[in-house]
Amino acid sequence: MKKKVVLTKNYLEPAIDRLKEQFQLVVAEETGKDLGAVLKEHPDTEALIGFLSDKIDRQLIGLVPNLKIIANYAVGYNNIDVACALEKGIYVTHTPDVLTEATADLTMALALAVCRRIVESDAFMRAGRFEGWGAKLMLGKELRGSTFGVVGLGRIGLATARRAAGFGMKVVYYSKTRKPEAEERFGFTYARFVDVVKQSDILSLHLPYSEDVHHLFNEDTFDLMKPDAVFINVARGGLMDEAYLAEKLEKGGLFGAGLDVYEFEPKVTERLLKLKNVVMAPHIGSATDETRLEMAMMTVRGVAAALTGGRPDHLVPEWRA
Ligand code: GLV
Ligand code: GLV
Repeated sequence: MKKKVVLTKNYLEPAIDRLKEQFQLVVAEETGKDLGAVLKEHPDTEALIGFLSDKIDRQLIGLVPNLKIIANYAVGYNNIDVACALEKGIYVTHTPDVLTEATADLTMALALAVCRRIVESDAFMRAGRFEGWGAKLMLGKELRGSTFGVVGLGRIGLATARRAAGFGMKVVYYSKTRKPEAEERFGFTYARFVDVVKQSDILSLHLPYSEDVHHLFNEDTFDLMKPDAVFINVARGGLMDEAYLAEKLEKGGLFGAGLDVYEFEPKVTERLLKLKNVVMAPHIGSATDETRLEMAMMTVRGVAAALTGGRPDHLVPEWRA
């Protein structure tokens, strides 16, 4: 009898095929029922593969007493009650490393799009408003020589900082643990959190979300930023007070913002939609063919390891502690 695996939503076919070869696969979204109802119907589920939009809490975990692994199809795993899983000896894995470069690329794409007003320019062209080269047409912000601030110099923060340095920007960073090797090797400067916020021309968030850092960017923090700075968030929406960000942008208190994540996903603060100086993407940091396939395969390998009595790779840090 093949072991039962629940996948919350469909993802890339090669990974689904691999799951079907080895396991009895239930794709929750195909049933038209919510995840809780599906797990109730399949209490013998031994592995659960979830998306960052699936809240996997104590109550859900309690429905499947034979659960051995929760494999998150994301690097961030704040959607999972890890403490509960640990308590029950259920492995929790995520997808670090493979999405680092793709996410860093998207960060720079947003930074460049805001600084050079690419989306606004595109709309201008499509509206047939281009009447020839203009001395003051779509003037933006120069990257070279300005300061790129990174909050959270983990894998993605580091990959982004290296790109920023490649554009001739000075990199300052704040991270929970200081990274002397990155300072030495790439010339990055460590500063206190408030100093990074104050000094940055472009400020980019690269830290995981937890309740401790809820609204790290609140009114006080945003008000410390330079009035012509650019704010970039590709990490998690809960790190910022989105309503205040919208208010600040409306008042011209920042040059602009580039967002890939939102506080109440998939909802977006209405006022942001009306602003020209905001560039928004629908949470696509890791969205390249290569990365999404590798992420999916990582979940398959993790599940296969856990269901054959092994210890999966890419356990979340709490599990490795
Ligand atoms: C995306 O946000 C992820 O955590 O993988
Ligand atoms: C965070 O998990 C990162 O990869 O930087």
